[in-house]
Amino acid sequence: MSERIARIGIVTVSDRASRGEYEDRGGPAILDYFRDVLSTAWEPVSRVIPDERPLLDDTLISLCDLERCCLVVTTGGTGPAARDITPEATEAICQKLMPGFGELMRSVSLQKVPTAILSRQTAGIRGETLIVNLPGQPRAIGECLDAVMPAIPYCIDLLN
Ligand code: MTE
Repeated sequence: MSERIARIGIVTVSDRASRGEYEDRGGPAILDYFRDVLSTAWEPVSRVIPDERPLLDDTLISLCDLERCCLVVTTGGTGPAARDITPEATEAICQKLMPGFGELMRSVSLQKVPTAILSRQTAGIRGETLIVNLPGQPRAIGECLDAVMPAIPYCIDLLN
């Protein structure tokens, strides 16, 4: 990643976590993951929001354009339920889609759980920011990020 302090957006998309009905475990799991794997200076910008558009669109746009995050990772809202709209929001606000990320994460996750096929997780580029969707299950976070992490710093370098 670049020499300036990298900002990483972490967005938990969950009606119940945003209402405080249960603890957000996905966001902290992403934070812990990056604390363990990143050796360069970085800072998190965390948000917990309900499964609502245009709020999710606005949150993603703000993390990309105003907070200047090089990477935004979302957790939750990727499934087939009516309120699961994270992939649609990601696709709507990105200029380029990166379907290989979702394909690889699903493929790796299928080795662990047959229900991995239920996630429509994707990725895309907005300006100089890479956005990656993860499922909401905390155990999915390490499994998915391990699969795509080798390509992330190079992808971000290509955007600058
Ligand atoms: N991927 C991994 N690695 N581990 C999981 O437990 N759960 C699946 C799938 N992908 C899962 C996974 C399930 S049960 C669902 S419904 C979808 O992700 C969507 O989850 P989301 O709506 O919380 O994003």
